[in-house]
Amino acid sequence: MKEVDLTTEIGGLRLKNPVLVASGTYGYGLDYRDLYDPGLLGGIIVKGLSLEPQEGNPPPRIVETPCGMLNSIGLANMGVKEFVKVQLPLLRELDTHIIANIYGKTSEEYQEVAQILGDQEGISALEVNISCPNVKRGGLLFGAEPISAHEVISSVRRVYKKTLIAKLTPNVTDISPIIKAVEEGGAEAISLINTLRGMAVDIHTRRPKLGSGFGGLSGPAIKPIALYFVYRAVRSTNLPVIGIGGIVDAEDAIEFFLVGAKAVQVGTANFVNPKAPIEIIEGIRAYLEYHQMGDIKELINSLKEC
Ligand SMILES: Cc1cc2nc3c(=O)[nH]c(=O)nc-3n(C[C@H](O)[C@H](O)[C@H](O)COP(=O)(O)O)c2cc1C
Repeated sequence: MKEVDLTTEIGGLRLKNPVLVASGTYGYGLDYRDLYDPGLLGGIIVKGLSLEPQEGNPPPRIVETPCGMLNSIGLANMGVKEFVKVQLPLLRELDTHIIANIYGKTSEEYQEVAQILGDQEGISALEVNISCPNVKRGGLLFGAEPISAHEVISSVRRVYKKTLIAKLTPNVTDISPIIKAVEEGGAEAISLINTLRGMAVDIHTRRPKLGSGFGGLSGPAIKPIALYFVYRAVRSTNLPVIGIGGIVDAEDAIEFFLVGAKAVQVGTANFVNPKAPIEIIEGIRAYLEYHQMGDIKELINSLKEC
């Protein structure tokens, strides 16, 4: 039987399969290499990079919740310059796309990080995380309003020539104007969702369980919300959409393909089952074979509407 075609395209990027690993859940790309070859993945999205190294938030920074987790890592990272010097040479050895996730406190900072990465061989695309507070506008998330979302994406676009993905926050009432804004700003694809804001309280100490008070919810608990965001996004833009949120197995991933995602990212599942992304790739292949589909493109956006 002919091998099932799992290749998919995200803007100018051709992925050998549609399963990527989500930023912040896979370190700088090499943490799981003793368990399997990360080159088998469709792509690796590294931990969010900023201009200068960041220590992140006070501990505790992780709390388990029903069917998920809260994190308040606070985007701790080694900084883009150290990443380029130390990690990137190792990542270039892998037979897959490396996508850098970036963030900043101002649009100028985003631009500087993008400029540094734009010159680097071995980075295939940028995923711009606009779920961060905009310091110039009183801490409101860049991705929570169209004007600042557009400002960040267009400033990155001016200096970055390769594939640009805008990663959107679900902490908004309507995602459509944000999608329009990033599209006009020059994004070639969108990925969603980032975490949902949440908190947990210790009833004995009467304090928040997270050191910073609140954090971002991820894992299976958010999957139905993520799926709905992707469903809405696919119906409001022609840009390719990458689905993220609570994907732990192939069935979850297939739901996202059915509503129109062209690729998916596996996040929190990496902490529970480090081989989840590989099992998901195999599961998608088995599903396509079982349903006699020769190509993942037959599955994508094939939802029967009610
Ligand atoms: C511990 C942790 C760290 C994260 N760090 C980042 C990050 O640096 N940049 C980013 O865009 N998203 C970050 N995320 C969000 C994930 O990439 C993903 O969008 C979210 O967790 C939803 O997917 P999941 O339910 O599969 O985990 C982080 C998530 C977790 C759990």
